[in-house]
Amino acid sequence: MTRDLQHAGRTAVVTGGSGGIGWAVCQRLQQEGARVFCGDLTPSTEPLPEDVSYIELDVTQEESIQALMQTVQAQTGRLDILVNAAGIEIEKTVEETSLADWNRIFAVNVTGTFLMSKQALSLIRVGGGGSIINFGSYDGFIADPGLAAYCATKGAVHALTRAMACDHGPENIRVNAICPGYIDTPMLRSFFGSSGDIASLEEEVRRVHPLRRYGTPQDVANLVNWLTSDEARYASGQLWILDGGLTAQAQQMQL
Ligand SMILES: NC(=O)c1ccc[n+]([C@@H]2O[C@H](COP(=O)([O-])OP(=O)(O)OC[C@H]3O[C@@H](n4cnc5c(N)ncnc54)[C@H](O)[C@@H]3O)[C@@H](O)[C@H]2O)c1
Repeated sequence: MTRDLQHAGRTAVVTGGSGGIGWAVCQRLQQEGARVFCGDLTPSTEPLPEDVSYIELDVTQEESIQALMQTVQAQTGRLDILVNAAGIEIEKTVEETSLADWNRIFAVNVTGTFLMSKQALSLIRVGGGGSIINFGSYDGFIADPGLAAYCATKGAVHALTRAMACDHGPENIRVNAICPGYIDTPMLRSFFGSSGDIASLEEEVRRVHPLRRYGTPQDVANLVNWLTSDEARYASGQLWILDGGLTAQAQQMQL
């Protein structure tokens, strides 16, 4: 027996679509029948599946976003799903963070999410509504040391998500944020890489997670898929923590 595809006939735009999480999201939405536009600074190194197109995109540049939306409009005439997964991390305390660092990370993580959403809304209205997924982080709730500006950007994305959900819910546009914990992507590898002994760090990450592993991009793509599907039609304005139980527990002392 075959089942209906959850996103048949839909169009999706995924920013940061060549990255660890973004690429898994592109694949998952495509498998569910969506026509997917993968926007990123550079193309994925993986071969593009049918119905996934790469479009060069810089989410900090409004003209770049407008050009992407024009392509989407010309090719499909609608937009049902926007996934704002482009993001960068800067590993510094406030004292170490230059004003240029601060402006750069806010430009990508916060302004990029704002500009993409702003430029997408009119195309999302064409189909009578749709779904926007922003990427927050568990770092928007609690802090990892040495990630001050990153944590601040994620807190801003959480607040923006709630505000957008309030403003656009009446138009049947649902807005949610996914707040991952440790997900095995190039961003996490680079975080480990700057922190010394990768093998023991990885072991420590496993130890502190109740599920005894960190997440995969596919774990995140599954949540994106559900939140953007009709099954989640009453879900909006929420911050969905996906962290293998990490933030559910009190920290244990090693006595
Ligand atoms: N990996 C984790 O553990 C984790 C945890 C919490 C939150 N997140 C968030 O999830 C999202 C995806 O992260 P990831 O782990 O896949 O990272 P990643 O580094 O693998 O991918 C990020 C992608 O964003 C793209 N990008 C960066 N600047 C851009 C710009 N100006 N315009 C367009 N694209 C740009 C990069 O080229 C890259 O492909 C990010 O917002 C990140 O902050 C990740």
